Amino acid sequence: MAILPILEAPDPRLRTISSPVEAIDDDLQRLIDDMFETMYGAPGIGLAAIQVGVPKRVLVIDLQEPESDEEGAPAVKKPLVFINPEILETSEDLSVYNEGCLSVPDQYAEVERPATIRASWMDREGRIHEEQLEGLLATCLQHEMDHLQGVLFVDHLSRLKRDMLLKKLSKARKAA
Ligand code: NI
Repeated sequence: MAILPILEAPDPRLRTISSPVEAIDDDLQRLIDDMFETMYGAPGIGLAAIQVGVPKRVLVIDLQEPESDEEGAPAVKKPLVFINPEILETSEDLSVYNEGCLSVPDQYAEVERPATIRASWMDREGRIHEEQLEGLLATCLQHEMDHLQGVLFVDHLSRLKRDMLLKKLSKARKAA
């Protein structure tokens, strides 16, 4: 496994529309392993393949906190893989979450999205899933699926807020 470099805004590659996965082969399994290692290393709770420069419709998510619990026991990992995900239904009620993104490091903003979604996807064994999702998983999947369309969470903000946030990002990058 390998930690891959994460593309950061305003890298134009993040605007790519990713292509469906055609085959679940060894290359894809390796990519998924590398994506998990990259996400856990960052650390983050979700990563789309395009964020490591691969324009394929593959996402990894793990909502477990990366830190160990109070007793010092290591956090249990709950890795989820979404291949060719689709959103079939969205609820009318919305939920707001203070979102961040590994491609927009250290910047956060509240984004409103449907609170509940029905989604389908394939896992890394090729099994098809169709489930109703809610809470942070629903939010996270929608955020990651945006990446497959070349959309970043900042695109959901007003132009003023987005410009402010991207300016802060470039300032932080210059200072580093
Ligand atoms: Ni993101």
